[in-house]
Amino acid sequence: MSRERKILELKEKIEKTKLGGGQDRIDKQHLKGKLTARERIDVLLDKNSFEEFDAFKVHNCTDFGMEKKKIMGDGVVTGYGTIHGRLVFVYSFDFTVLGGSLSKTVAEKIVKALEMAEKNGAPVIGINDSGGARIQEGVDSLAGYTDIFMKNILASGVIPQISAIVGPCAGGAVYSPALTDFIFMVRKSAYMFLTGPRIVKTVTHEDVTAEELGGADTHATKSGVTHFTYDDEQSLFEGIRELVSYLPQNNLEDPPSIICEDPVNRIDEELNYIVPENANKPYDMIEIIKKVFDNGEFFEVQLDYAKNIIIGFGRLNGKPVGIVANQPKHMAGVLDCNSSNKSARFVRFCDAFNIPIITFEDVPGFMPGTAQEFAGIIKTGAKLLYAYGEATVPKLTVITRKAYGGAFCVMNSKNLRGDIVYAWPSAEIAVMGPKGASEIIFSREIKSADDPAQMHLEKIEEYRDKFANPYVAASKGLVDEVIEPKVTRYKLIKALEMLSNKRDENPPKKHGNIPL
Ligand code: HXC
Repeated sequence: MSRERKILELKEKIEKTKLGGGQDRIDKQHLKGKLTARERIDVLLDKNSFEEFDAFKVHNCTDFGMEKKKIMGDGVVTGYGTIHGRLVFVYSFDFTVLGGSLSKTVAEKIVKALEMAEKNGAPVIGINDSGGARIQEGVDSLAGYTDIFMKNILASGVIPQISAIVGPCAGGAVYSPALTDFIFMVRKSAYMFLTGPRIVKTVTHEDVTAEELGGADTHATKSGVTHFTYDDEQSLFEGIRELVSYLPQNNLEDPPSIICEDPVNRIDEELNYIVPENANKPYDMIEIIKKVFDNGEFFEVQLDYAKNIIIGFGRLNGKPVGIVANQPKHMAGVLDCNSSNKSARFVRFCDAFNIPIITFEDVPGFMPGTAQEFAGIIKTGAKLLYAYGEATVPKLTVITRKAYGGAFCVMNSKNLRGDIVYAWPSAEIAVMGPKGASEIIFSREIKSADDPAQMHLEKIEEYRDKFANPYVAASKGLVDEVIEPKVTRYKLIKALEMLSNKRDENPPKKHGNIPL
């Protein structure tokens, strides 16, 4: 064969790989409103940056007539490219090839992408649209899944791992995304569940649709499995690009700084007036966040789940930070099982990837009641304690209002190695709220008073005057500084600059035993 012919042959083969399972199946994919594996990669990565590997790799199965169904590249497209000019690895299931089912070969390709990502210290993004284990391959497929899980586990905390769910993701297939750091789901065409509606009907006699059982909104609001939901794939991939802009390439790097045009010493007078004078009135913590961080930008994570706590990314003077904030607008910002789980995992992510954590605190305490106690709030609250306590990244706290009881300890207090704790003059820092506290310590006076109700009110005021302020805590060094709200941005930026060379370590150990 001539040199020219060989090159032509290569070009023809490459063109063939681009068609995956064929034009008919591509059309079917488009008819469902879904992009193909390659189109998804093109939307996700910087233009023309994708370099594919293993495009010619085929499966080796010969059972059930599979030797006649060999398609180059098999059910996944793998390779690397860039997002905002920075290296990322990617694998994208190709539903047009046997429903993107996972063969031994598909697993090998994914494992290779994960290994290369880890070796080269770059984030990896998996795009899931798959019918699950390749049924014709049986146990080889199960072993392949397990190889992927193993790689996800070893890469955890070394490189950021992100999953997009843009089609079916069922059975054990859900566990690779679940082992990654962030899950993005698209509404309508994506679903994740361990067992589908038919088996659910047989076992528990429940009638449920795939969407109700494992659609994006279910996982965004009820299970907390997904971190981000979008109406269409285009916006989902833009969301992943935005998330990546906040993250370092790996655990040995700092997150990427950008030039900040928002003045460092910008003062916002309105911050002085956001917290209502009446301690029982709610306000929106998001308003505070938007006023403090660069350009009012806040990339919220899990915004529809456990709304009593807010987590997400922002920047201070161009440097990414993780934000954890109680939300007084929802359940008074109380800490419960779901909000503890949500925030604990986020704190650990930030700590693993050198992202400083800024905590805004307004929390009346942990949620009382049988529902929470039976659900294990002791354990979940301890998770948040553990996560904050073990974190060695710079940790700053701003107490805007309530910091009561155990919740005061948990929310990055000085005693949990909080580096700087600021309090606003509206802060109330005490072992419990004035009403409950006065009932206990003044019970005799209240009972013996001519007008017990009036006496109780007086005692509440007495307790509030004494303890419901930041100055008792400040006098004991538990608050580093009481600041005017309007200067919060400047204060946080100065503190982060001071902490830019922070060194802190935990004792050497195999690993701790976080109360899971
Ligand atoms: C082999 C599969 C397949 C699979 C789909 N296909 N799933 N081939 N193994 N798991 C093939 C179909 O035969 C078809 O081939 C093509 O993919 C498209 O499938 P359709 O059914 O036509 O598509 P659609 O109507 O959109 O339905 C998609 C689907 C359905 C809902 C995903 O295909 C489905 O239910 N598949 C089986 C799901 C499943 O039970 N998987 C195993 C789960 S157990 P042609 O040639 O006609 O195009 C599991 C255990 C993992 O995953 C454990 C890990 C620890």
